[in-house]
Amino acid sequence: MSRHVDDIKNMLFDEPDFDSDNNDDEIKSKTVRRKQRKKLQKQLEEKKKPSVETIAFRDPSKKKKILNKSNTSSPVSQQNENVEFDLEKARFDVHKFGIKGFEKSKYEDARVALAVNLGARPPKRKFINYRELIEQNRAKKAKEKEEEENARLLGDIFHKSPNNKQKSKQKRIGEGDVGLMRFSSVGKFQGGVLKLTDKDISKLLKQHSYRLYSSQVISSSSLKSNPSNIIYSSQKVADLLQKQSNCLQIFDNYLTDNENNNFLKEIDGYMKRKRYEYSHWDNAIHGYRESERSEWTPENQQVLSHIRQLAFDDPTQTLVHVHVLDIAKDGYIKPHIDAIRYCGTTIAGLSLLSSCVMRFVHKDDKTLSIDVLLKPKSLYIIKNIIRFDFTHEILKDQESYFNNIHIPRNRRLSIICRNMPVDPSAG
Ligand code: OGA
Ligand code: MN
Repeated sequence: MSRHVDDIKNMLFDEPDFDSDNNDDEIKSKTVRRKQRKKLQKQLEEKKKPSVETIAFRDPSKKKKILNKSNTSSPVSQQNENVEFDLEKARFDVHKFGIKGFEKSKYEDARVALAVNLGARPPKRKFINYRELIEQNRAKKAKEKEEEENARLLGDIFHKSPNNKQKSKQKRIGEGDVGLMRFSSVGKFQGGVLKLTDKDISKLLKQHSYRLYSSQVISSSSLKSNPSNIIYSSQKVADLLQKQSNCLQIFDNYLTDNENNNFLKEIDGYMKRKRYEYSHWDNAIHGYRESERSEWTPENQQVLSHIRQLAFDDPTQTLVHVHVLDIAKDGYIKPHIDAIRYCGTTIAGLSLLSSCVMRFVHKDDKTLSIDVLLKPKSLYIIKNIIRFDFTHEILKDQESYFNNIHIPRNRRLSIICRNMPVDPSAG
């Protein structure tokens, strides 16, 4: 604090003893204060009284007597008569008196405020080390960025329009039929994150039943699907899938970081030696390399066996060979239906490395489509109607939009388990 302020402050009054817990002193000072307050009040009242001009008749013969009398008047009353009441001073006294009742920190602030009010130079801002300042600014920026990212992710869930130039270009079938979700209508915003109770979520799902809804089957398992990962083009397609429970399931973070690394280590070893293929333009897959593996390290084998138990009605009827597909940053999978000659009712795939958008389109009615956001370490399961009646594809980077938000495509790996063909002689 500047010396200037300190000087004025010290001139104003002595600081009260905040540490003293002597009750007598406290009572005494209270009494003194009360007396002072009364005195001030009296002064104010006197000032308010209308001043009437009085003319006194002075009998010259009694002049001496009067003079004598005035000499006998009490010194106090004489003093009162001589005091010129200063309203400014009274206000200052009241202020000064009032702030003594504050606790120490507020008292200090109030003293400074009073000093500044009386013309003191305001104190300089607290000195802060330059490095500390940079650190503080950095932390503040990081926090802001985190909140922005949260808002962006919430935008995913609530279909809030992002600041995206591609927005109008990327409009999908059925879009625009749904009003925008207002942040304020559901849940509570806390520290940049929208907290939702179970009640909020069911309210949300009811309001947006045909954009976002979760598969009932998944919620009964210990694993939870994220309903915001699936976008239906219309109520019709949502209803169609709902009738066929668990034909489309998505599990975010199915793999732990450790399991993810184990797979990457094992796959990278042999994939590195292969070249990406960009052969014929009408191939279903573009920019890819692949492998079929039946031998896995014990820990990876264990994960695969869990997936088989989760995804397949009869885990013993699955193909021993697991399909490993590696698509480059510019690679993609065109719409196709897996040949029924080689694959049964169910496909379960782990999706690693890059996020991507998997699209399903009905083979006979192109207006019926579903977009799924596959994050790294996620597992998808497709069965029956989705497996047989819908094509599936992985969008190329330029088209990789989910809910109008670009999902950048990079190298992406998938590990796919299938079951045996329903009728090997078919097809
Ligand atoms: C396929 C296929 C999907 C994936 O290889 O037939 O559709 O997740 N792969 O890589
Ligand atoms: Mn396929």
